[in-house]
Amino acid sequence: MSRLTQARWARKAREARKAVDRPDRLDRPNRPYEPNGPDQPDRPNDGSLFVKILVTGGAGFIGSNFIHFLLGPENPRRVDCQVLNLDKLTYAGNLENLVDLPLPENYQFIHGDICDGKLVESLLKVGVEVIVNFAAESHVDRSLYEPDLFIQTNVVGVQVLLHAAMRHKIKKFIQVSTDEVYGSLTPAAPGFREDTPLAPNSPYSASKAAADLLVRSYFKTYGFPAIITRCSNNYGPYQFPEKLIPLFITNALEDKPLPLYGDGLNVRDWIPVEDHCRALHLILEKGREGEIYNIGGEGERTNLEITEMILNILGKPKSLIQYVSDRPGHDRRYAIDFSKVKGDLGWSPCYRLHEGLEQTIRWYIDHEEWWRRIKSGAYRDFYQKHYGERLK
Ligand code: NAD
Ligand code: DAU
Repeated sequence: MSRLTQARWARKAREARKAVDRPDRLDRPNRPYEPNGPDQPDRPNDGSLFVKILVTGGAGFIGSNFIHFLLGPENPRRVDCQVLNLDKLTYAGNLENLVDLPLPENYQFIHGDICDGKLVESLLKVGVEVIVNFAAESHVDRSLYEPDLFIQTNVVGVQVLLHAAMRHKIKKFIQVSTDEVYGSLTPAAPGFREDTPLAPNSPYSASKAAADLLVRSYFKTYGFPAIITRCSNNYGPYQFPEKLIPLFITNALEDKPLPLYGDGLNVRDWIPVEDHCRALHLILEKGREGEIYNIGGEGERTNLEITEMILNILGKPKSLIQYVSDRPGHDRRYAIDFSKVKGDLGWSPCYRLHEGLEQTIRWYIDHEEWWRRIKSGAYRDFYQKHYGERLK
């Protein structure tokens, strides 16, 4: 990164940190979020004119990438897009993820909780047309320690959003769910399909499955225009360094051990976040109400394979790998059959795993300041509690 870019990055990061400290807990709007009023004529429900989008959890990993996508060159309607981002800024929410946004005047941040019904109602009054819900507690390991937090945000929060959205006649609601709701696959089993029975194994995945059932009930009972997406493991820029890939890249860069659970042979299907965002955008525009869409990356690998790829790309020794005790209830294998979204909407992943991983590693090398600040903060307390004994 050039010195100029570095200075700009540092200045924007300082501004973002200041915004978090504002007593009214709202970022300064770049432009008022203009109400379209109750008498706004109905728009055709084909998605083509969806421009006022509420993104919840947009300061996290996938949400922030999605906002970059909405306002970036890949979205032909970006100039008309108005994005409202509602985020509680938990440990995982980081306004620095949004400092370099294209079209910042089309974006507004609201600091708040999706469980706060009054706040959600007040936001929807300003003419939001669609909601894409990313807000969640997302880390399986944390759900083992604090399941109540997961139920609150991932289940109660979704119900609050659904009810307010229904009252305000929102035209489309995308619930960003996960492949983990299907549970675990045996080595030779075919990938999860949309009709694979739900069999969640962790408090995290159980909370996401519960939310999916709530979404389903709102569609069935009230005809509420909801869609559920279930994607496999994402990786890419701005992923909090508690998840496997960013944790291992940053640990390797620091010559620290890479704590591999169990025998290291659990399998995940890896997808670059950019491909996930492209799928979500297509589903937002063309997906059919009441449908579930699985999204996968054709990137099945064991954790050991991923770890070795990271070490190879970085030119670091395998001796950094340290086997540690397994995650309780650890799902053995995930794989996704994404033929539905491919057949119905023409989506497939663009990147191959090695290429995506190289680009991601380059991003973490170029954004050392970003992850070092995270690793030196509250994250450390969790790291100590979770890995302290295991790494002894
Ligand atoms: P993340 O943990 O990086 O981000 C979650 C965001 O939600 C953070 O910005 C956080 O501040 C915000 N948030 C948490 N509780 C909130 C609340 N009560 N009100 C408002 N905001 C709140 O998560 P992520 O990896 O970006 O995942 C986003 C969504 O995608 C989640 O719903 C997750 O279940 C799903 N998903 C993730 C993956 C993956 O591999 N990361 C794969 C499939 C699906
Ligand atoms: O499949 C989609 C899910 O992917 C999302 O719904 C979740 O939000 C997301 O966190 C992710 O869940 P995983 O549990 O699969 O991701 P994680 O990065 O935590 O772990 C990936 C694999 O690596 C898993 O088999 C556990 C293993 N692992 C993880 C960590 C953090 C290790 O071996 N060591 C580690 O330190």
